[in-house]
Amino acid sequence: MCEEKKKYYITTPIYYPSGNMHIGHTYTTVAADTMTRYKKMQGYDAYFLTGTDEHGQKIERKAVEKGVTPKEYVDEIVANTKELWKLMEVEYDDFIRTTDERHEKVVQKIFRQFYEQGDIYKSNYEGLYCTPCESFWTPTQVVEKDGVKCCPDCGRPVEPMHEESYFFRMSKYQDWLIDYIQTHPDFIQPVSRANEMINNFLKPGLQDLCVSRTSFKWGVPVDFDPKHVVYVWIDALSNYITALGYKSEDDTLFRKYWPANVHLVGKEIVRFHTIYWPIMLHALGLELPEQVFAHGWLLFGGDKMSKSKGNVQYAQPIVARYGADALRYYLLREMPFGADGNYTDEAFLTRYNADLANDLGNLVSRTVAMIEKYFDGVLPSWSAEGADAEVDAPLREHCSQLPGLVDAQMEKLQFSQALTEIWKVIGECNKYIDITQPWVLGKDESRKPRLANVLLNLAESVRFVSVLIRPFMPVTPDKIYEQLGIKEYTDILTYESLDSFGRLPAGAKVCKGEALFQRLDIKKELAALNPAPAEEKKKPAKQEKAQPKQQPKEKKPVEIPEGCIGFGDFEKIKMRVANVIACERVEKSEKLLKFRLDLGTEQRTVLSGIAKYYNPEELVGKSLILLANLAPRKIMGIESQGMLLSAVEEKEDGSEFLRLLTVDGSTFKAGAEIG
Ligand code: ME8
Ligand code: MG
Repeated sequence: MCEEKKKYYITTPIYYPSGNMHIGHTYTTVAADTMTRYKKMQGYDAYFLTGTDEHGQKIERKAVEKGVTPKEYVDEIVANTKELWKLMEVEYDDFIRTTDERHEKVVQKIFRQFYEQGDIYKSNYEGLYCTPCESFWTPTQVVEKDGVKCCPDCGRPVEPMHEESYFFRMSKYQDWLIDYIQTHPDFIQPVSRANEMINNFLKPGLQDLCVSRTSFKWGVPVDFDPKHVVYVWIDALSNYITALGYKSEDDTLFRKYWPANVHLVGKEIVRFHTIYWPIMLHALGLELPEQVFAHGWLLFGGDKMSKSKGNVQYAQPIVARYGADALRYYLLREMPFGADGNYTDEAFLTRYNADLANDLGNLVSRTVAMIEKYFDGVLPSWSAEGADAEVDAPLREHCSQLPGLVDAQMEKLQFSQALTEIWKVIGECNKYIDITQPWVLGKDESRKPRLANVLLNLAESVRFVSVLIRPFMPVTPDKIYEQLGIKEYTDILTYESLDSFGRLPAGAKVCKGEALFQRLDIKKELAALNPAPAEEKKKPAKQEKAQPKQQPKEKKPVEIPEGCIGFGDFEKIKMRVANVIACERVEKSEKLLKFRLDLGTEQRTVLSGIAKYYNPEELVGKSLILLANLAPRKIMGIESQGMLLSAVEEKEDGSEFLRLLTVDGSTFKAGAEIG
């Protein structure tokens, strides 16, 4: 009988390529990759989709700031993203970009269908918009902070919006959706999120959703009304089916894999995935995904790590020093899937030493070293004589149960718990060494058969552990198999081979290799990961240089033409690159923004009268130009320590347009001198 493989379709959000991906995005992607590898290992026909969400106002603005086209802007970040996934050992089956033609065409078809069947109508939008979240809010939904209307989700200022738009009749589907969520308790996980959706959004009544924009161009045009582009969330959510070829010439994948088994998402976008997306699917007459799982946030200093806030940790420097497996392990082990957790280098390094270098690394190296020492590096045979059921049975039974214990956790996407189960066996092995004391057995030739069994029990337990950690840590198991000398014995390295304990082949030659995870000196590593800013040795000399010889400007030395300044005059002006750490509006002032700036060697507070032209949050993380030696001045009781440079354009209608001067390139060393 030919039994067809069971399918498993899993997705990550498609990320905004508004900046490079950090370990928050890495977290979701690694989780999805681990789940895919786990299901494939179990024999599922698993399909893993990830990608990028490239349209919308946020990306368009980023591109304008950088002076490139939106497509040029995202192309570079998408290339970096793909590199990052490679570095993280992530193996996706497809990477969809919302700028792919295959996607855009189908989004247009979907939008048209909604319109033709009466789900969408044209009207005028009057309300507020949060660009970082790309979401609409009503005046009653927003929260006020210091008199500024802010997004209830992310807390950043919203902007007023008035334009002709198409609307989706969400209200029509509200009762159906409440009923669906209540009769499908597994649909939204963790359950607390389901209650939140019902109580906060569905029960109070769904507003019709604005689903097109006319005030910018970077999106999928509505084909029957091209002045409109499709609202970025309608565009983005569709990716989960367009990638499978829905409404295209070849929809084999769609017919095979839809509905998705699980959409993994961060908790901030649950609303889009459990309200708008189900309604869109229902309106298309399609089945809903089996589950939307909302995981928690990686925090950095207590705040959500975020591209737009700039408070991020990237994966690359960690992987460069410690390898992808170590970071993957940390991300999946540190916090339960669903809860928030802080990322700190210290927590990472501590776990690395405890779990990887000590528990796992030592177990493998001790086991291999003892086989070398007592059996000339050759795996001995099991012997009935060497068995000690009382001591051995608990470990052997624990190993035999391990696949089931792990599976129970993986079914619930509890990666951390699954790893905990595996590490319990590792801990038990290390205890087993203490109890059996192989070094004592090794002194007595007559106890060789017992010693053989002890070491085989250990090596066999290591085999179980290695097979099971592979989805989490794809690189390490091969290194272990090599050390145990069983790399070629592929039939005992499969998931199915864990159906019995004791399969290790006698005669295999172990080979002591490098430590799997070198024990780290945490202090040294912290210093290496966070180098102190390089000392600007030349600076003091340079500052003093030439100053005494300066002529005051009014004296106009003869050799300098009228209206010009001399080089010496220019040298008096100290301009520095200032990176914006924080920026906020000044209370009771319509004009002023207050900046906290990083100058490399010091921080400064600077006020600037540009509140009309910028939202404070869009400036965080930018490299601006500060006139650094302007005498400090008190404005509204706050001392401003310098002046940020900007360009001002007077428009014909008398209004002004202002842009801050920035340094070309997204990040620049704070404090660098200009000149
Ligand atoms: O929301 N902790 O894209 P995005 C944990 N384009 N996970 C994090 C995280 C953090 N600090 N930061 C980001 C979007 N993530 C939309 C999605 S889907 C149809 C469209 C992860 O670039 C997490 O999965 O803001 C979160 O939901 C996602 O990245 C948001 O990425
Ligand atoms: Mg986001």
